[in-house]
Amino acid sequence: MPLVFAGTANHAPGITSRREAATPAQREVFFSAYAELRARLERARLDALVVVSSEHFTNFFFDNAPAFCIGLAEAYDGPSEDESFLRIAKTTVPGAADLARHLARAASAEIDLAHSQELLLDHGIMVPLHLLVPQMRLPIVPIIVNCLMPPLPPLARCYDLGCALRRAMDAREERIGLLAAGGLSHWPGTPESGRLNLEFDRGFLHDFLANNRQRLIRHSDEEISTSAGPGGHEIRAWIVASGATEGLIGEALCFEPIPAYAVTGCVATIAVV
Ligand SMILES: [Fe+2]
Repeated sequence: MPLVFAGTANHAPGITSRREAATPAQREVFFSAYAELRARLERARLDALVVVSSEHFTNFFFDNAPAFCIGLAEAYDGPSEDESFLRIAKTTVPGAADLARHLARAASAEIDLAHSQELLLDHGIMVPLHLLVPQMRLPIVPIIVNCLMPPLPPLARCYDLGCALRRAMDAREERIGLLAAGGLSHWPGTPESGRLNLEFDRGFLHDFLANNRQRLIRHSDEEISTSAGPGGHEIRAWIVASGATEGLIGEALCFEPIPAYAVTGCVATIAVV
């Protein structure tokens, strides 16, 4: 059974921690889009969900910063943040360990993937899971991308990882979904938090929806830092999704600037079946 669901969305902690800070109109647009993504995910009747997100100093630090790390565990605890802050109850999410081992083994023919039995889930995965699979019973395979500690994995390498994962997924019997979470432009943890670059976001989303590999991977790290902020490097997760859906056109479910969440609310899906 090939990949049967692919989606992308923001994961900024403000989405849950200060949900009411956005205007009612912004909330309606953004959370309706997330609800539509959830409906499509449920219709896909997934056996497992591969979630690509970014490192936030939750699992790795400067002493060991893998470009990509796949979780092989039977279960994952999260969120790592204070639950009263994130407003997501601490829980244990099941891991799709057998699938993860297959993906790690198969993708390693093309990409050097670190692997871990002990990944913690932070807002980067828990915010989207909270909105898409709130019972937290769908087994996941987390994949963490270093979007934080330079040197970062090249954008082309992220696309290649997606291609390798897709080939590995398509060899399985399970109904597998892929969710990429993060970005787009944002300046988290800086005095500029709340700043957005709509031109960058609009352009990236356009290239993402068209799965235009050449344009997606053309950005230098310096350009991303300047134009999209330190959080802009999280476009890597989206580019992994592009590699996994090579040749397919995406559909934007929302594009809504929400400074209160410190991101442009972007939710998209790719019809993979
Ligand atoms: Fe993030």
